[in-house]
Amino acid sequence: MAEREHWNNRLGLIFAMAGNAVGLGNFLRFPVQAAQNGGGAFMIPYFIAFLLLGIPLMWVEWSIGRRGGQYGHGSLPGMFDTLTQNKVAKYIGALGLLISFLVMVYYVYIISWTLGFSFFSIIGTFDGIHDIETMKTFLYSYQGNGAGYFTSQWPAYFFLMITLGINFYILSKGISGGIEKFATIAIPTLIGFGLLLVVWVFFLGTPDPTKPEFSTFVGIDYIWKPDFSLLTTSNIWLAAAGQVFFTLSVGMGTLQAYASYLKKDDDIILSGLATAGINEFSEVIIGGMIAIPIATAFFGLAMTQDIAAGGAFNLGIVAMASVFTDIPFGSILSFIWFILLFVAGVTSSVAMAQPLISFLQEQFRFNRKKSTITVGILMLLGVHFVFLFFEHGFLDELDYWVGTFALVVVSLAEVILFAWVFGMKKGWEELSRGSDIKIPRIFYYIIKYVTPAYLIFILAFWTFDSAIPILLFKGVKESEIIYRLGARVFIVVILISFISMIWLAWKRNNGKAFTQDEIEGGK
Ligand code: ALA
Repeated sequence: MAEREHWNNRLGLIFAMAGNAVGLGNFLRFPVQAAQNGGGAFMIPYFIAFLLLGIPLMWVEWSIGRRGGQYGHGSLPGMFDTLTQNKVAKYIGALGLLISFLVMVYYVYIISWTLGFSFFSIIGTFDGIHDIETMKTFLYSYQGNGAGYFTSQWPAYFFLMITLGINFYILSKGISGGIEKFATIAIPTLIGFGLLLVVWVFFLGTPDPTKPEFSTFVGIDYIWKPDFSLLTTSNIWLAAAGQVFFTLSVGMGTLQAYASYLKKDDDIILSGLATAGINEFSEVIIGGMIAIPIATAFFGLAMTQDIAAGGAFNLGIVAMASVFTDIPFGSILSFIWFILLFVAGVTSSVAMAQPLISFLQEQFRFNRKKSTITVGILMLLGVHFVFLFFEHGFLDELDYWVGTFALVVVSLAEVILFAWVFGMKKGWEELSRGSDIKIPRIFYYIIKYVTPAYLIFILAFWTFDSAIPILLFKGVKESEIIYRLGARVFIVVILISFISMIWLAWKRNNGKAFTQDEIEGGK
């Protein structure tokens, strides 16, 4: 009898899981969030959220995933169903399919820009572009948003297709032969590239000694020097929690999918901590030491703050591309930066396709080839919406609802299902089984009480603070409303499709996962 796929070895698993987490969030999103929310002071709510939300939820997701895998399930509907034996739970699991699929739909488009920019760095397209405004025009015209360097969107389309192709090529090779192999090369490479840039940040120091305020150290100081007065504002607590969710990929359904390929008694606690550790190293040490310090050395602090306020792309893409045009070995450094972003992005995006691939295999008996091709085609269709309507806020709308808000909803649902419906006593045994280190008992209570309460608080606050105004299109340009509405219809249609598929699968086979033999001999 054929066995369900497994990770080949522990190091490979850790790299794959770390790859799942380490992504654009670490290198683009984190520095901007830290800079916008009080510099060093941001790190206090950040680490509190990491300890009380990130780590416990990560462990819960690994446990739910490993347990689901024992029943042949690699996606949330089946995992929640077997965990609770509750009729509704599988439909809540539809959110796990929705989030992972839709975040991938827009995430791959952003990754494809970094591939394009890697290529432009090497062939010298940026030579002669020295200022931010011109580079912004370059990026916007690349995205099809206004006249400039590109007369059409074909180059962007080309890199998008290559990015999708790379993703689905890796996925077609399976868990250990594709994802694990790729991550085992990708993670050390991207950490190496990141450290190289960090070393360069220190060498760069103050490029023009007559302007001491234009220095990487001023930027480092800005990111790390706490402005404690900001700790009393609620926004920094919410931003910190949002960053922790996104960076660790909790609430997306992807950690659970990867964990379903663990063996029954494989350790969760230590491996989980190791991957979270790699993620934090990449985020805080590498992510925090590159974009802001470099921009400060070239543009000064005030302008860097303005750039950061303009968003993650202005800082990590526009500003970074323009500084590298002016310096020795600039095209190589620029290539290193953009390819680092690309590799980090792909290790995360492949994880986002996996839940749906597993779902089609296990509930609909698609073999790996068929399910990878099906998800590839669906993804191809989906990215066209983002590609065509990007400038009208389509991506932002998806990012808010599925990439931000829904992560908290899923996290809350799963911690309640795990700690309260399945039961914390059983949950604790599940979590600790096979563990290489003893998990501190305090996490029993954190998972049972603190994490759910914290999540309820965040969800309530976000609902009133941002979700309702966003829902009502507050502050949105009149011309964008129709596209943003379209994005919502898109989300709802996909959610309904997944719910219907779950209904059908359970009707036909009572939700029982097909065995590996059945899948491999599948249609
Ligand atoms: N966790 C992934 C990132 O940080 C999604 O980009």
